[in-house]
Amino acid sequence: MAWRPVAAAPLSVVRIFSGIQPTGRKHLGNYIGAIAQYVSSQERGEGIFCIVDLHAITVAYDPAELRERLYDTTAILLAAGLDPSRCILFRQSDVHEHTELTWLLSSVTELGRLQRMHQFRDKELAQRELVSAGLLIYPVLQAADVLAYRAEEVPVGEDQREHLELMRDVARRFNSRFAGGEEVLVVPEHRIPPVGARIMDLQEPTRKMSTTGSSEQGTVYVLDEPKTIEKKIKSAVTDSGSEVRIAEDKPGITNLIEILAAVRGSERAAVEAEFAEARYGDFKGAVADAVVEYLSPVRERFQALRADEAGLERMLGQGAERAREIAAGTLSEVRERMGVGPPG
Ligand code: AMP
Ligand code: TRP
Repeated sequence: MAWRPVAAAPLSVVRIFSGIQPTGRKHLGNYIGAIAQYVSSQERGEGIFCIVDLHAITVAYDPAELRERLYDTTAILLAAGLDPSRCILFRQSDVHEHTELTWLLSSVTELGRLQRMHQFRDKELAQRELVSAGLLIYPVLQAADVLAYRAEEVPVGEDQREHLELMRDVARRFNSRFAGGEEVLVVPEHRIPPVGARIMDLQEPTRKMSTTGSSEQGTVYVLDEPKTIEKKIKSAVTDSGSEVRIAEDKPGITNLIEILAAVRGSERAAVEAEFAEARYGDFKGAVADAVVEYLSPVRERFQALRADEAGLERMLGQGAERAREIAAGTLSEVRERMGVGPPG
């Protein structure tokens, strides 16, 4: 694989950053809520995408499996359409600036706030063995990921809203404490998609589709075979009644409407209108077909990309070099402002 370097971006181009964990198998929620936005953001600005292996070690994990999943995730992102000649794609642990910035920013992060974060509390309860300090610091590393690049936009699903709020506060506190209010660290905006920011489990439509804690049957994986996808969607839990309509007491149907709208790039209301007269069975069939068509090209491209681990490593290495160039500039300014290390 040979990748061309990205042409220098004009000044007005928006910088977009996001991170994704190399854990588990990526699912339809990840794809719709995040990966699809990464791909489209290549049209709008300078995209920087990071596979966050250091975040993945904050809960119990297997080292050998982490490497495998890292390649899986990288190959899925490429198969989805991330193009290393148009964006920067790299592995978090290759760019040491992230960990250094985490430490520096921990001095402007409030401990109580970290202890109150929803994700920390959920994961803390879910840990059967060790609740690691890393789990608590997790959002500071996430803040460092984004702030190191002075990114303006962060495409994520709804579950990341609180992490984005925290990183905005960290940037503001740094700027006011160490930069006299100057925007040395850019305060980023989240970009949560209007449709598909929270895809729900097909079997338990009141909880989000997720890698951990979801049922196999309720989770459509990006790499599922068409037959499997069809079966999962056709056996999705639906609600009493027979109307295809968005309603609080119809979480199953509402979720399927959301999925179809997201996959088609249309509005929920358009889906409702189209299926106003349809039966549940026909509607589910249409959703299944659309999702199969949506994910099939990704699954097909994945195989060849995943098989070439040396090629993936080379590409990640080149991505890391370009990422480091940007992050190193931010780090030297942050160190300078904080009075850390030799002057100037
Ligand atoms: P993770 O796999 O936890 O690193 O998540 C990667 C991205 O997928 C993040 O931006 C999440 O917000 C997004 N995401 C995770 N689960 C869902 C879901 N059920 N619906 C929509 N987006 C999701
Ligand atoms: N915490 C995010 C998740 O679980 C992953 C992540 C790490 C991230 N660093 C990031 C997302 C920076 C956006 C920006 O999905």
